[in-house]
Amino acid sequence: MRETASSDELLAWYDRHAREMPWRVSPADRAAGITPDPYRIWLSEVMLQQTTVAAVKEYFVKFTTIWPTVNDLARAQDADVMAAWAGLGYYARARNLLKCARVVASEHNGIFPKTRVGLQALPGIGPYTSAAIASIAYDLPETVLDGNVERVMARLHAVETPLPTAKPELIALAEQHTPQTRAGDYAQAVMDLGATICTPKSPACGICPWRDPCAGRASGIAPELPRKLPK
Ligand code: ADE
Repeated sequence: MRETASSDELLAWYDRHAREMPWRVSPADRAAGITPDPYRIWLSEVMLQQTTVAAVKEYFVKFTTIWPTVNDLARAQDADVMAAWAGLGYYARARNLLKCARVVASEHNGIFPKTRVGLQALPGIGPYTSAAIASIAYDLPETVLDGNVERVMARLHAVETPLPTAKPELIALAEQHTPQTRAGDYAQAVMDLGATICTPKSPACGICPWRDPCAGRASGIAPELPRKLPK
């Protein structure tokens, strides 16, 4: 085992293995100066809150075809948006989606705020979504913490404290790893790592870019982490 896990190692892996998603700007395109559209990042992250990437893709394409900009969505009829959302579930998300689009259109000139505080003032945007938009859309060094990131951090640092008690510790660790540059690619890299290699069951430690510095792997307990308090 080696002492520190660097974001560079993870980013080098992401440069080769980033999953393609209809809302994503690839690492190569980003390096060429193409920036993501905050509207598309916001829409995808709201859809992804309780739904898998695979299920979200077709809804995302449908929404952005019918309503290509936040101003288009703001002008939509409620019933049309609810109908387009049908099947995604958690309908409060769709109602907040419309509310948020209308606030961004009418109070922010159609431009999503560029700070976490500003983003969290909008309907339906909490700590996770604000960090995701700030980092992925605006490349700000904000730390995204979802279940994937919790699992990766718990294993990398062999955190044996069970969730939810471990949460503040995992947030602090995730913040320490967040780089000042390429924060958007980094946020998506950790999520991809958690979804494809550092999976809940049978993680593929042998091909993990962080296998050397991983304390959970070194002590052989990676697959058991994060521990959870019985509900
Ligand atoms: N899950 C939620 N947001 C994601 C993203 N931007 N990339 C990969 N998985 C995600």
